[in-house]
Amino acid sequence: MAQTAEERRAAVVEAALGRLGLDAKTRLLAGQDTWSLPALPEIGLDPLVMSDGPIGVRGVRWSADDPSVALPSPTALAATWDPALAVRAGVLLAQEARRKGVHVLLAPTVNLHRSPLGGRHFEAYSEDPYLTGRVGAGYVTGVQSGGVGTTVKHFVANDAETDRFTVDNIVGERALRELYLAPFETIVAAARPWGVMTAYNSVNGTTMTEHRHLVEEVLRGEWGFDGINVSDWNAARSTVAALLGGLDIAMPGPRTVYGPALAQAVRDGEVEEAAVDEAVRRVLRLAARVGVLAGAEPAVTEPPGTVDGVALAREIARRSFVLVRNDGGALPLRPGTVALIGAAARDARVLGGGSATVFPARIVSPLDGLTAALPEGTLSYAVGADPNTELATAGQGFELRAVCRDSDGTVIGTRDAPDGHIQWMGSDLPEGVTHDILHTVELTGTFTPRESGRHTFGTRGVGAFTLTVDGTTHYDDVQPPPANDPFGAFFGGPVPRAEVDLAAGVPVGVSLTRVVHRTADRPMPVITFTLVHQEPRRDPDELIAEAVEAARGADTAVVVVATTERVESEGFDREDLRLPGRQDDLVRAVAAANPRTVVIVNAGSPVELPWREDVAAVLLSWFPGQEGGAALADVLTGAHEPGGRLPTTWGSMADAPVTRVGPTDGALPYDEDVFIGYRAWQRAGRTPAYPFGHGLGYTDWAYESAGADGTADGVTVTVRVRNTGERAGREIVQVYLAPSEPDPSRPARWLAGFASVEAGPGARAEVAVELPRRAFEVWDEATASWSYVKGSYEIEAGRSIEDRRITVTINV
Ligand code: BGC
Repeated sequence: MAQTAEERRAAVVEAALGRLGLDAKTRLLAGQDTWSLPALPEIGLDPLVMSDGPIGVRGVRWSADDPSVALPSPTALAATWDPALAVRAGVLLAQEARRKGVHVLLAPTVNLHRSPLGGRHFEAYSEDPYLTGRVGAGYVTGVQSGGVGTTVKHFVANDAETDRFTVDNIVGERALRELYLAPFETIVAAARPWGVMTAYNSVNGTTMTEHRHLVEEVLRGEWGFDGINVSDWNAARSTVAALLGGLDIAMPGPRTVYGPALAQAVRDGEVEEAAVDEAVRRVLRLAARVGVLAGAEPAVTEPPGTVDGVALAREIARRSFVLVRNDGGALPLRPGTVALIGAAARDARVLGGGSATVFPARIVSPLDGLTAALPEGTLSYAVGADPNTELATAGQGFELRAVCRDSDGTVIGTRDAPDGHIQWMGSDLPEGVTHDILHTVELTGTFTPRESGRHTFGTRGVGAFTLTVDGTTHYDDVQPPPANDPFGAFFGGPVPRAEVDLAAGVPVGVSLTRVVHRTADRPMPVITFTLVHQEPRRDPDELIAEAVEAARGADTAVVVVATTERVESEGFDREDLRLPGRQDDLVRAVAAANPRTVVIVNAGSPVELPWREDVAAVLLSWFPGQEGGAALADVLTGAHEPGGRLPTTWGSMADAPVTRVGPTDGALPYDEDVFIGYRAWQRAGRTPAYPFGHGLGYTDWAYESAGADGTADGVTVTVRVRNTGERAGREIVQVYLAPSEPDPSRPARWLAGFASVEAGPGARAEVAVELPRRAFEVWDEATASWSYVKGSYEIEAGRSIEDRRITVTINV
């Protein structure tokens, strides 16, 4: 029989492995720098490059001069409830990866929304493992169809940020299997990912980069995963335990627990070379799949056709927006004047912070989007409230570049630095520049204010700085590194250094010079600092009064409220669910002045909306990606309906069932067991602000009939719906499964399947929803296996977990 491509690749891998000595093998298992594995020319292996992930492909440079398409946040992608759209997102990301020379995308994030306080909530999909698995599988399928690898992350139970390097999450076997492992299992089965990333945290006493049981026995053994296991960045802590725990690649480099340390461990007899070979085999298999191993046919020889990233970003955004309230049909907007209000309406927050950051070439804000879409003279703008209380990366109004000099002051290289942020890692330096000769980096250019008044300028980062604005030097001193915080230089707060009165529209010169550190003693040379800026501060009451005036005079008021990077990012959890600053006061005041007030919530995770019954409409726009403002205009004007449904329950902090995200004495018990998200809200009998699955479009649907048919291996539910409204629309038919006899050890009901249909006004549509066998199973701790729970179930089809329209009973 002819060999399959996989078998031919395996033969090339074996031959290459056989030609490598121990030192070369162990070198291959360690990063050579922040993002890549070393080349091994003796076997025709090129460097293998990885990059974050998940909403775009940042590439090996952390810099705005190397832009990437920025898609909506993962919460937004999940809100589309559309695995096929996730596939298309993946195809675009593979195209971006290829353009940037990236072979493996460090995504998707499929940890669960265990608590709304999780800092990286925006970066994960849902509180429901089934929805997470389906969307994640689509994403992985799409990326890999473009010949680019993925690392499904963070394996496993990395559901919060507090003490993330050390926390020991104590998770029962049932919760682990039914909730936290479930999306990984689905994705391995459905999309055959070429990689996973093991998390920083421990699970039940063992750190995940050494978790032999979960990696070797469950992931590889039970599920048949054949990809690589890469550590989260700096998560690997030991040499032998990590290798025996199934960790293949320790990132980042160049100093890791593998490389020479691993070769030594083999020579000392602490670990068998065969274990090293297993890991190398997997890395070479990945290299072959992505096409960097000579002689091996890559998994994808013809990448899919070109995708228009701008158009796709806009499509996903409007399909993700969730209209949670639309009193009296306030949306779409009627013809008339619009008062647009909110800091984020002008300076949109399109993505979450931390390693998920990418730098889009452009951002369409709500103000840009509505200006383009509405007739001239019908739109006004007021800030209303600005939740940003600190200096932010120099952006709007700045034109900057970086100039590198040697110790004599001679220019040795330059690079664009559009947003005043420098983050040069390893050998990523402007052309002609090396760490040996580089002495200073100067950010220099102009700033043209859009508002008159007292502007504040400052620095972020550590080291010796000189800051000059409009010819005057305001700061010339050294900022020492923060104590006890290895990431302080990256994520440390901004410090104000100068206050300068400036006039709108009049450009001034700006220069920030930093004497760069001597970095010889550091594992990896990094140059990172930022010019930060803040606009003139206005009296908050005055700002609200101004917005109220604008709202009163307009037919509709559209208020954009948002979280900030201090609220939703990596490395910390949220403390509460409130909107920062005076935004709640703003909405209340505007709503009192204009009954047609529409609120857009620009946040990646749930926030409290205490005024929600007092406004006409509430639209959740998530972090909508670079085209968010254009998509918002599409939806507000009615050109498209908002297509999203909540992938996670939105409710208040007081009612949220799981709010503990911090460990005590290093351990965080997942005491709630299998009851997170809607499973927990239902058990507690509490009513959230907006339930899981909820979302309105611009038409209405009747659920006319449902039937169920199947065997133990799966049930097909056929649902017939009718579009009872006046325009065409898309409905997401959700199917929940509820044991007819409630069983307190199980949730009252859970999502078992979903599918979408489209129909014109008055038209009927039928959809088949597949419920997998697993929907009827529980993890039996006594036998350590899945157990099919026979009996009578209600199959409930509807529009959300609360709005169930039709029920059929089946016996299985
Ligand atoms: C994050 C990962 C990310 C990695 C590389 C880590 O801090 O947890 O999600 O892929 O950094 O940026």
